[in-house]
Amino acid sequence: MRSTLLRRLVSTPLLIVLGVALTLPGCGASDEYHFAVPTGSTSSDATLDETLATAMAAASISGVSRPQADAPELVALGKALFFDKILSGNLNISCATCHHPVAFTGDSLPVSLGEGGTGLGANRDVGTGQLIPRNAPHIFNAAVTGVDTMFWDSRVRRDSITGELTTPESGLNGAAPTLPDHVQQLTSALAAQAMFPVTSHDEMRGQAGLNPIADAADNTAVWALLMERLVGTANGTVGGIQAYRDLFLAAYPGTADFDTLTFGHAARAIAAFERHQWTALDSPFDRYVGGETGALSDSAKRGALLFCDTAGCADCHSGPLLTDFQHHALAVPQVGPGKGSVGEDLGLALETGLVADNYKFRTPQLRNVALTGPWMHDGAFTTLEAAVRHHLDPLNSLANYDAGQLPALFAATHDTDATRNAARAAALSPLLQPPVGLTDAQFRDLMAFLHSLTDPASLNLLDETPDSVPSGLPVRD
Ligand code: HEC
Ligand code: HEC
Repeated sequence: MRSTLLRRLVSTPLLIVLGVALTLPGCGASDEYHFAVPTGSTSSDATLDETLATAMAAASISGVSRPQADAPELVALGKALFFDKILSGNLNISCATCHHPVAFTGDSLPVSLGEGGTGLGANRDVGTGQLIPRNAPHIFNAAVTGVDTMFWDSRVRRDSITGELTTPESGLNGAAPTLPDHVQQLTSALAAQAMFPVTSHDEMRGQAGLNPIADAADNTAVWALLMERLVGTANGTVGGIQAYRDLFLAAYPGTADFDTLTFGHAARAIAAFERHQWTALDSPFDRYVGGETGALSDSAKRGALLFCDTAGCADCHSGPLLTDFQHHALAVPQVGPGKGSVGEDLGLALETGLVADNYKFRTPQLRNVALTGPWMHDGAFTTLEAAVRHHLDPLNSLANYDAGQLPALFAATHDTDATRNAARAAALSPLLQPPVGLTDAQFRDLMAFLHSLTDPASLNLLDETPDSVPSGLPVRD
């Protein structure tokens, strides 16, 4: 998969020189190769741009359309809910704790620290909480058209044509869900996703015996109790919080009876906020794809070519969002408590039960990837460079992984079991074999391309944290 004619040709200075020679009129055939090509010259750009356009088209890499705007009232409700610890059983954690503006919509940790922890971002401490099995993904561009799956194993999915859901809650699933009032509001995979963090004991719900939500009989009861907290019962006359009733009414103006609101309404609003706030499609690369040829340096353009071709990245990071939305096994070192069993995370196989899916995780989108470390499904790599180098020679990287790059709490969970590591190596995707050799210059170009995927508007999100939330619970801790 990794060697096509184009791949061998592109990204070498020779091609650029050749290109210049071919496009400069009036040059004698004999001395074409003797002049130096100034970097950034128009002629070299034009050739590079053409070659890149062809390579990108082959990988279906194109511009991304902005999602439709939601009503500001829906976004306002979603923002309050996203930052409000009222959604957690013990009132001690919000969505934002693990997807925070200070941490570029992630938490800066290899794997998340759940409810019972204290502090934010890299300063978060496990406290009385648990290590969560996986890395909290960023939520940039999680609501643009084409994103129909959620989580590293896509366990929440929405069929973009039928609208049917597949989730861990059977009542939401299929053509005739038993919770239609919830499902009606779940108009995107992102909205469906927002139903679930509140149902997880380790993430937001709290441990059994500690609060009524933790002790609820099932997901439906969790969601109902949360709506009681937010808008009360008996059409908002008993309990609840007036500010939330106002926000829900503004977001859903047709509401005649607060008792008809479901947690689906809350989830839909959260998704609207995420979509509004974290659609990040104004990177230099986006502007380049939009026709602004000067938006990328020559180095980034050469890197994009390598990405599409010699380095084979676009075998999986293809399409407008630089992901095929498929799952692949990358022989990533195991960090974290494990999922399903201690020290082990079989990824997609935990969902499908198929041995062929062992260690497979969903290909991530790559916009803003320079901001969203640590990288991989378990945050095993603390630099973008290391995450990329892992791809070039995964088996070597797995064998020589240095957990010393992680904070001690996480380093201690690195799985060094030889049998399991052999299984991780054996499952490696054929698309990543054999190793790819890049020169230092090529590697720099590839990194320049990845950095060109950063939307400057995402560089400082600090102002996005509200000063307060309707429950009055603390926000900035
Ligand atoms: C304790 C930390 C924590 C909390 C709290 C939390 N999340 Fe997450 N979130 C994670 C982790 C970890 C994952 C990945 C889990 C997996 O893939 O198995 C995730 C995944 C996601 C994803 C999927 C992104 C993708 O690309 O697939 C979205 C969206 C998301 N969370 C939004 C939310 C919302 C909304 C809330 C609040 C209702 C929330 N999260 C609460 C840690 C957290
Ligand atoms: C075989 C498919 C495949 C190929 C080829 C591939 N990737 Fe990946 N990439 C993935 C998957 C799957 C993950 C997540 C793996 C995991 O966490 O276990 C990933 C993760 C990443 C990440 C970390 C993203 C994050 O948010 O944590 C970066 C950066 C990345 N890839 C860049 C590249 C580059 C650059 C190349 C080419 C050198 C490349 N990939 C080639 C499938 C692929």
